[in-house]
Amino acid sequence: LTAAAAAVIRAARASDAAAIARLWRALLTEHARRDPAFAVGDGVGEAVARAVSRALGDADSALWVGARGDQPVAFCCARVERPAAMLAERGRVEITELYVEPGARRAGVGRSLADAAFAWARERGIARVEVRVAAENGAGQAFWRSVGFGPFVDVLQRRL
Ligand SMILES: CC(C)(COP(=O)(O)OP(=O)(O)OC[C@H]1O[C@@H](n2cnc3c(N)ncnc32)[C@H](O)[C@@H]1OP(=O)(O)O)[C@@H](O)C(=O)NCCC(=O)NCCS
Repeated sequence: LTAAAAAVIRAARASDAAAIARLWRALLTEHARRDPAFAVGDGVGEAVARAVSRALGDADSALWVGARGDQPVAFCCARVERPAAMLAERGRVEITELYVEPGARRAGVGRSLADAAFAWARERGIARVEVRVAAENGAGQAFWRSVGFGPFVDVLQRRL
């Protein structure tokens, strides 16, 4: 069995909440190294737990895990965004979080989770998916391009 074959992608359940919160905090810790704007706040534990339960309970959000045995080693969160009324597009999906534990990377788990989000979007008649990725995140930049994303909007920042 390859590592990829051993990770099962499935919709998250309420019983996954603690494991997803642990992965989400690991994601935040990894991003915090990249830019001061990503520094993690004091109330991170409670805030992440709230975000997980909100995503689990919201019809416009979806959460998936990549699990080895019972243990989630990856998760993905997506939500439907509805644009301003002046645009013709009725909705898009934003993949807001994607994290694969270091020991489970480069085995196709990230790609399979992204595919789950694409299928979820298509089921809703949505034809476009967005993701924000830090310019500094070389692995993330390469990953999103490998699953079909291209440049769209640059988010610039200026420190004062
Ligand atoms: C980015 C991330 C989700 C990729 O997950 P993964 O399960 O390792 O990705 P996959 O195995 O499905 O990779 C698919 C393809 O993406 C590209 N890719 C993935 N990681 C890469 C890396 N470190 N360097 C270069 N290309 C990479 C490759 O083309 C890869 O295909 P290959 O392994 O056949 O060459 C994972 O590295 C991660 O969780 N990083 C930290 C959090 C993060 O940056 N999240 C996304 C940004 S918002």
